[in-house]
Amino acid sequence: MKEKPLLLAFVLVAALGCDSLPGRPDPADRYQRPSEVEDFALLYATHCSGCHGADGRNGPATNLGDPLYAALADPVEVRRVIAEGVAGTPMPVFAQTGGGTLTEKQLNILAEGLKAGLNGSESASRLRGAPPLTAKAGVRGQASTAQLARGEQAYATYCARCHGAEGTGGASGGSLLEPAFLGLVSDQALRTTVIVGREDLGMPGWQGAGERPMTAAEVSDVVAWLGSHRSSAGDAASGVSIK
Ligand code: HEC
Ligand code: HEC
Repeated sequence: MKEKPLLLAFVLVAALGCDSLPGRPDPADRYQRPSEVEDFALLYATHCSGCHGADGRNGPATNLGDPLYAALADPVEVRRVIAEGVAGTPMPVFAQTGGGTLTEKQLNILAEGLKAGLNGSESASRLRGAPPLTAKAGVRGQASTAQLARGEQAYATYCARCHGAEGTGGASGGSLLEPAFLGLVSDQALRTTVIVGREDLGMPGWQGAGERPMTAAEVSDVVAWLGSHRSSAGDAASGVSIK
């Protein structure tokens, strides 16, 4: 049995390939613990693309890949949402401190990567006069009757041509008043959709919805009006990102 160690060595070499001899590990092949991954694209593909789409488009959830989103998003708020999730919606908690899977460093990498833009940067002309992406504190709570009336008017002006006069579905957009939809979406997500649009799905943003760009007040009003159709309190609206 003299040749056995040699044979074993040969088998090992054949199995591993010459570059992978013990003592010469290729750093690229080294197993990475999930908590060690620091590549934005890999983190995004692993944890986010299933809901937000492969390059931040065409997913069921918010179009994070629109350059307009990247330009308008507040990096502190983006990081907070990734860490804490949005209660009452499918957006999960990612911070390990909250039971999620990502380290503080990974949260930073994701927030910085989204802010840098998944698909390039937005032109200045599309940004001029844009309404704030995050609703100001104090906008929440019970909307006044006057605001709801203004919101209904804004809906008729900017949304009805696609989503139907009653908001229950129209020429190209689906129903926005389904309890099953409204119950799972926060006011902030509605606001983001109205401002950024879903160009991947054929919906224009704040500049293109109507004959003139929407004002910040009109955005807030239409979101309040949509939200007023939720069937009960304590649903997604309470998970909204502004306190
Ligand atoms: C299971 C589906 C799901 C996964 C996975 C997911 N998200 Fe989300 N995300 C959502 C939904 C749904 C919303 C909208 C929540 C709401 O109603 O406010 C959202 C909202 C967000 C927002 C806020 C958008 C805004 O309106 O400003 C950010 C930022 C975000 N997600 C980032 C991420 C990142 C980064 C990852 C991966 C680490 C991720 N999400 C993974 C479903 C998901
Ligand atoms: C030019 C047509 C068009 C206009 C104008 C338009 N939408 Fe849409 N909207 C769409 C299409 C198409 C979709 C994708 C299909 C669907 O979900 O109904 C969509 C989707 C949505 C969604 C769901 C987004 C998601 O991520 O699932 C919301 C919320 C929405 N629209 C709100 C509005 C509001 C509010 C207005 C007015 C301020 C508006 N839309 C104006 C066409 C339009």
